[in-house]
Amino acid sequence: MKAKLEELRAKAINELDSIDSPSDLEAWRIRYLGRKSALTEILRRLANLSLEEKRATGAAANELRAFLEKALALKKEAVSESEIARSIERGRLDVTLPGYPPTLGRLHPTTQMLRQICDIFTTMGFGVVEGPDVEWDYYNFEALNIPQDHPARDMWDTLWMDSETADGQRPMLLRTHTSPMQIRVMESRRPPVRVIVPGKVYRYEATDATHESMFYQIEGFAVDRNITLADLKGTLFEFAKRLFGEERTVRFRCDYFPFVEPGVEMAIDCFLCNGGGCQLCSGSGWIEILGAGMVHPEVLRRVNYDPEVYTGFAFGLGVERMLMLKHGIDDIRLFYSNDLRFLRQF
Ligand code: DAH
Repeated sequence: MKAKLEELRAKAINELDSIDSPSDLEAWRIRYLGRKSALTEILRRLANLSLEEKRATGAAANELRAFLEKALALKKEAVSESEIARSIERGRLDVTLPGYPPTLGRLHPTTQMLRQICDIFTTMGFGVVEGPDVEWDYYNFEALNIPQDHPARDMWDTLWMDSETADGQRPMLLRTHTSPMQIRVMESRRPPVRVIVPGKVYRYEATDATHESMFYQIEGFAVDRNITLADLKGTLFEFAKRLFGEERTVRFRCDYFPFVEPGVEMAIDCFLCNGGGCQLCSGSGWIEILGAGMVHPEVLRRVNYDPEVYTGFAFGLGVERMLMLKHGIDDIRLFYSNDLRFLRQF
């Protein structure tokens, strides 16, 4: 019996040596360790043997089974390792290949400009607040000294919301400018206030190279005792220099906005031709960059600020316009048409 077991061991190990696939390995297991294998048969028949034979053969057969099981386990590991090695060889898994680089995003040019402008004003002591895009007529027009049926409303082509009051008025709109936040902020604070308001605004407008139905504005205003037009000029001149270069000069001319008095339009000397006249400044040497003025006494009264005690200045600028000027972009539609060839340049 001993000899038979040794023969079995030699044969099994010999076969195991040449196996290199999981399926052959399983067949080997069934052949040598399975229910119908010779070894299992021997172990089953132990019961029929004499005590002496049982002891000798049983020990040897059990030892052989443990030995084969161990050999099987070791071989299993080797086979699975060589499986991986083979698939690497076949090129299915080349662990040395570089990975796919993640696509890096970037901030939209408008966001970059918004942040740059907000930085400039916050270092001058302005706080930043935002407001609702859907606004009441009251804040967008009425409280800003633009009453119903006043021709000044024509300055803003308005997108009205469907909702109607009983008398057929439409009290809600998409804000046409960020100026309504002047009222909301002053309603909730007492002077001094120094705030800028970045945000989206909407116009009922056919789009072309210089008009979009949605764009960004930044409104700013400061109200306190003794604020004068000199404060307005100093603040906005400083802003223009920080955004367009230290060497800039500014020009203020009269303009009309219902919520300021006096109202001004601010221009900078053209940074492309230094005022000599070029295509960017249409030959004039000047580029208009924003509207501003001293907050109208009617607006102050509306929010219960005494115009005899408090004065203030306000301004509003177009964010995309600043970008277009700065980078010589000639079509505002480029900002929101999602063309990566354009956006990747920023
Ligand atoms: N809200 C104005 C517009 O959208 C811009 C503006 C002009 C804002 C003059 C102001 C200002 O605060 O004083 O056209």
